[in-house]
Amino acid sequence: MRSISAISAKSSSTKRSPRYHRIQKHLLQTYCLRGVGSKQGGFVVDRHLRERIEFRAVNLIEQLPEIDFFDVVFLRNVMIYFDQNTRRSVCKRLLTRIRPGGYLFVGHSESLRGMCDELLSVSSSIYRRL
Ligand SMILES: C[S@@+](CC[C@H](N)C(=O)[O-])C[C@H]1O[C@@H](n2cnc3c(N)ncnc32)[C@H](O)[C@@H]1O
Repeated sequence: MRSISAISAKSSSTKRSPRYHRIQKHLLQTYCLRGVGSKQGGFVVDRHLRERIEFRAVNLIEQLPEIDFFDVVFLRNVMIYFDQNTRRSVCKRLLTRIRPGGYLFVGHSESLRGMCDELLSVSSSIYRRL
């Protein structure tokens, strides 16, 4: 993962030191640090991995800033905030940043069917850019 965005800086700053509670054991051992003392039971993603992530606030309903191209974009439970027209324009805008053949993941209740011709439905919440 190279970038994380959300509309508010507060929201993205929370994600700078994320703590998770469910993760596969081998990923936990390779990429995470176990919490000790008052943090026991939790864990954080290892610093070396965190340093490879760029955090920034991006408003998806506005023109996107100069950002890189992505192989995969995870946008779970974000489209639910937008009406149909806004979803369509957000979808088109995001597609300009997804490499051909790359994937867009949304939430299980968020259908993008018929939104963009360039987007192929792979399964209920997974789409691939043609
Ligand atoms: C329900 S949370 C989902 C968070 C996370 N994706 C998840 O699945 O746990 C909705 C997220 O949508 C983001 N969001 C809402 N409107 C947005 C916008 N116009 N541009 C970018 N992010 C937006 C909020 O910042 C928030 O992080």
